[in-house]
This record gives sequence, C-alpha cells and structure tokens, in this order.
Amino acid sequence: MLYHVITYLSALPNTFSFRMQNSPLVLVIGTGSIGERHLRCLQTTARCRLSFCEPIEERRREVATRYGIETDLAFPTLEAALASGQNFTAAVVSAPAPFHIPMGRELAERGIHILMEKPLSLSLDGVEDFRNLIEQKEIVVAIGYTHRAHPGMMRLKEIYDSGEFGQAIEMRIDVGQPFAKIRPAYPDVYFADRAMGGGAIQDMITHFYSVGDWLLGPIDELVTHARHQALPRVEVEDTVHTLALHGKVMATYAQNLTQPQNEATLTLICEQGSIRTDYAKKRVSHIREPNGEWEHTPFTLDDIDEIYITQNSAFLDALENKGPVLCTLEEAIRTLRVNLASLKSAETKTWQSLS
Ligand SMILES: NC(=O)c1ccc[n+]([C@@H]2O[C@H](COP(=O)([O-])OP(=O)(O)OC[C@H]3O[C@@H](n4cnc5c(N)ncnc54)[C@H](O)[C@@H]3O)[C@@H](O)[C@H]2O)c1
Repeated sequence: MLYHVITYLSALPNTFSFRMQNSPLVLVIGTGSIGERHLRCLQTTARCRLSFCEPIEERRREVATRYGIETDLAFPTLEAALASGQNFTAAVVSAPAPFHIPMGRELAERGIHILMEKPLSLSLDGVEDFRNLIEQKEIVVAIGYTHRAHPGMMRLKEIYDSGEFGQAIEMRIDVGQPFAKIRPAYPDVYFADRAMGGGAIQDMITHFYSVGDWLLGPIDELVTHARHQALPRVEVEDTVHTLALHGKVMATYAQNLTQPQNEATLTLICEQGSIRTDYAKKRVSHIREPNGEWEHTPFTLDDIDEIYITQNSAFLDALENKGPVLCTLEEAIRTLRVNLASLKSAETKTWQSLS
C-alpha cells in the first residue's frame, strides 16, 4: 500500500509538468499595470505557460524575475516575439489602446487567439477589417471589460435574467474613486492623453457602458456631460454624466474620479421591484414592496485579482471550446461606438443616436 502511495506521489510532479508542457503558450504584450496583473492571474490558473514582451528593459528584467519567466520567453517587442519561432496559442494585448488593433491584426494573421484590453480602439479605423480577419481565421477574441467578471455584477445579472423582477424600466449607475491615490502614475501614463486612450470616458466609464449593454442590450441614444473638474496635473475629463436609452430602458451613468470614496452601485428598477449591486458593501440587494425593506445577500471578493482570474479562465475555457468569452468583439465594437458618441456628445452638447 505504502509503495503504491509513494509511486503515486512521485508521479504527481511529472504529471503536472507534462500537463504544463502541453498547455497553451500565452504571450502577454506590455507588462505595465494591467499586463503584469494578467501575467500574475494567468500564472495563478496554472493552465498555461507564459511569455511576455515589454520594451522597457528594466521592467522586463523585473517582471521576468518576479514571475520566474526564462529570458528566452521575455521579449523587447512583439516583432521579436513573433520572430522567435515560439508557438504562441494566444496573446493578451495590454499595451495602450492605439496599439490594440494593429497588434490584433499581427496576431490574427498568425491564427493567435486574443484577449484584448479595453477599449478596443480609439476610432473605428481598421475595426471592420479586423472583424473580417477574425471571422476568416476563426480565432477566439475576448475584450477585457472586467466588470462582467465581478461577482457583484454577475449575481445581479443572474437575478435580473431570472425574470423574477420583470423588465427593467430604469438603470442608475453611480461610480467613483480617489483615482490619484489608487493610480498615482496616472499623469505619466496613457490616462493623461485622450489620443492614447486617456480620460474618464475612454478609460473608466466605458467599463460601465459595457456592463449596461450586457444587462440591457445596446444603447440607442445618449447625451453626455463631461468635464475636467479637479484631478491634478491632467486636463482630460474626470467627471462624466451620461443619460442613455437602451431600447425603452432609461439609464444614467455617473462617474467621478476625485471623490474620496471608492464605490460603485448599480440599481435596476424593474416592473416588480428593484435590484442593486454595491461593490463597497459587497452585497447584492433587492426590494419588492413599496416602502419595504431591502434584502441583502453578501458576495465575497477578497482580492481584485479574482475578477481577472474569472475573466481569463473564461478565455482559456473558450480556447478549449468549453464556454463563451465574457465580452465578445461584437460587444466591444458596440461599446467603442458608445465611447465615440459620448465624446462627441460632450464636445457638441447634443444627443447622439447610435441606432
Ligand atoms: N481591464 C482593466 O481593468 C484595465 C485596467 C487598467 C488598464 N487597462 C487597459 O490596459 C491597457 C494598458 O493599461 P496599463 O494601465 O497597463 O498601462 P501602463 O502604461 O501601465 O502599461 C502599458 C505597458 O505597455 C508597454 N508598451 C507600450 N508600447 C508597447 C509596445 N509597442 N509593445 C509592447 N509593449 C508596449 C509599456 O512599456 C507599459 O509597460 C490600456 O488599454 C488600458 O485602458 C485595463
């Protein structure tokens, strides 16, 4: 008996290393703030081998050391990675937004599956060609609209989709955070420049436009009021209010990047009651009776990495035909159109139609 146990245990590491050797090789492109998180979260899944490219040499060395990635899998550029002869199954595009579509094309041409960071792009240039290429090459594409993997949002969607509360009539989203404290590097990275994907519309509230689309379907019309109010050392908008129509459902999206509280609430007012998710209080709640009491159900989220692990695991499942990605290319194209309409509305102070 003991002999069998010892034989079994001694075979385990080999089984694991055999499995790892045959697992997909994933290339993370750009290991700044979110790229490093992707690397860490993918490593946590233990479902893929990892490689990355990062042009800043010091950062490249640090990241390789921190995650134990061999130097021949740490590249300075995407070109070097693609020329290396490594057989990449998938790539995570986590460089700033202007690079997303050009890099996506390079990857798609080679049949490499893509997890692309949000926003998909900053204009519609090249998007149609990219979509056609993806169809032609039959590759999996997921976009990193991470709030779809948030346990509070997933639970709210489950409740709404159950039909228990009837159709939504109105949605209110109220989000904000002390951005300068949470992301102190913000004036020195892409956030400071709209042409690099910066500003609260393209960088932040876009996450919630994507959530709204996921819950209620596409936005047909919107109007946005957005201004730079108080965030030091940048001129891009830090405060955004959008009114939108998703079919018949009226929605308000409000975002502030200078408030001290780090909070996000989304309330769906439906025909037979209201449902609310509250990130800060870590609970999903519902109320049915007029003047009644809210009933709360807690959710757990101990580490923000958990939502990226959920999102990235869904992507890895999709590579094995075991489930859908959490945000499709089609959905991200719709949200790109919403971002552009929102920017235009803020600039021209007019309603924009998307249908
Ligand atoms: N889903 C999310 O929660 C989330 C959070 C933050 C950022 N993002 C998105 O991720 C993208 C990157 O954001 P970030 O905060 O990590 O930015 P960052 O500035 O911290 O990192 C970007 C990294 O990309 C590298 N890079 C630049 N050009 C490159 C190139 N040509 N090839 C390879 N690497 C290159 C930079 O050296 C840097 O290390 C943006 O599109 C942003 O909107 C998503």
